Amino acid sequence: MADRILVLDAGTTSTRAMIFAPDGTLEGVAQAELTQHYPKPGWVEHDAGEIWEKTLSCAREVVGEAPERIAAIGITNQRETVVAWDRETGEPLARAIVWQDRRTAEFCAGMKDYGHEAEVQRRTGLLLDPYFSGTKMRWMLDHDEVVRRAAGKGTLAFGTVESWLVYKLSIGAHLTDASNASRTLLLALDGAQFDEELCELFGVPRAALPEVVDTHGRLAECQTDCLGAAIPICGLAGDQQSATIGQGCLTFGETKATYGTGAFVLTNKGQEIPRSDNRLLGTVLYQQAGQRTYAIEGACFVAGSLVQYLRDQLGLIGSASETEALARSIEDSGEVVIVPALAGLGAPHWAPEARGVISGLSFASGRAQIARAALEAMAHQTHDLASAFAADGAPWSRLRIDGGMSANDWMAQDLADILDLEVERPDFVETTALGAAMLAAVGCGMHASLEVAAQAMRGGTRCFAPQMADAVRSARLSRYAKALAAA
Ligand code: G3P
Repeated sequence: MADRILVLDAGTTSTRAMIFAPDGTLEGVAQAELTQHYPKPGWVEHDAGEIWEKTLSCAREVVGEAPERIAAIGITNQRETVVAWDRETGEPLARAIVWQDRRTAEFCAGMKDYGHEAEVQRRTGLLLDPYFSGTKMRWMLDHDEVVRRAAGKGTLAFGTVESWLVYKLSIGAHLTDASNASRTLLLALDGAQFDEELCELFGVPRAALPEVVDTHGRLAECQTDCLGAAIPICGLAGDQQSATIGQGCLTFGETKATYGTGAFVLTNKGQEIPRSDNRLLGTVLYQQAGQRTYAIEGACFVAGSLVQYLRDQLGLIGSASETEALARSIEDSGEVVIVPALAGLGAPHWAPEARGVISGLSFASGRAQIARAALEAMAHQTHDLASAFAADGAPWSRLRIDGGMSANDWMAQDLADILDLEVERPDFVETTALGAAMLAAVGCGMHASLEVAAQAMRGGTRCFAPQMADAVRSARLSRYAKALAAA
């Protein structure tokens, strides 16, 4: 009987395939690391062919010889990353430019100088920052002869990662879901399809862009050649929107924070188009039958990638999980503070040229102090976001956390302490994949609504209550504010 959901979770550092039962039980996982290309400082690229091949091979591994069990596919992905391919050959035309890539900082600054930011923010909910897809597409057209030639011939296809995977799985459907489309700068939050005026402003030909579709429903079909059966693709969403759904943040005001490569906080804003006066983002959370639910978002570019940096670049730790024991081994960080601006600063500062800072070093600062400061940085960044959300009239009453880093109990407690707020963590922290499974389950009719899917598929949670003395919290936050000024 076909009652299993296949989720493809194409993230920044790795791509995975997972099988979910209708009650949300995870029954199989295959994972492959993705090669990160850093051709110049501030540039980050992926090989789109590698994303496709590794995702397909993970999917084949978990599906095995029993594709008839799979009722539907849900896809979730690193957002904003741009893939350019040729519609005739189905092959990538250039390396994908990854969301972390800062190469269009100057272009964005120029557009700000021309006074475009207010209008762009009003229409798209986004700001003029290299993070978003539109300026990356423009860069490819300006700098890559192969991409430009394909545009001239009319064979250029642009898409974010879900769009690329759907194209390959379906052998030719060119579509994107509204949650991913809302990260491009080319979709007006109240417009059904990519906007002609915005495309013109950013110099991106609308003809190269995909059709914008719902996040759930019968959206496309995976061809038999790929997995041994024709399987409908019934869920598509950017990974942060997917995690918000997987956390069951389905009513107005509910908020989640995911600590993956970066840290992303989203609050459900219902049918209201979100507006921010505090440099937060308005984004599509999900779309069904053309009807949108929105979210307000704070995006920090560096979270788990900071721990990875301590491990791989500095060699201070052998594995990410060591940080918890190191943090617990000392009373405090000894005044060491880290501002993790290794890829500039995202919300609410939006400073693409900012760079990381480690301050307060003394001869007493060893790897424990630095590892602890790295974990503390997560709470400090999240506190900055909490202030911006509150100033925008969207204060958090509780924060649901997830993502690989949230498994760290010390960090979860520190978040509760610094935010002075109850923090809730699901026992199953892979909420990004769970959200995509919920979308696909609703999209194929297995569950009647996202609320029903949440009831059926989500498990238990653990709460972390704040315990820190006010004076300790204020001292930490004021040291962080000083270090931030130096970044
Ligand atoms: O916006 C970027 C985001 O989608 C990346 O997510 O999970 O790779 O940190 P992640």
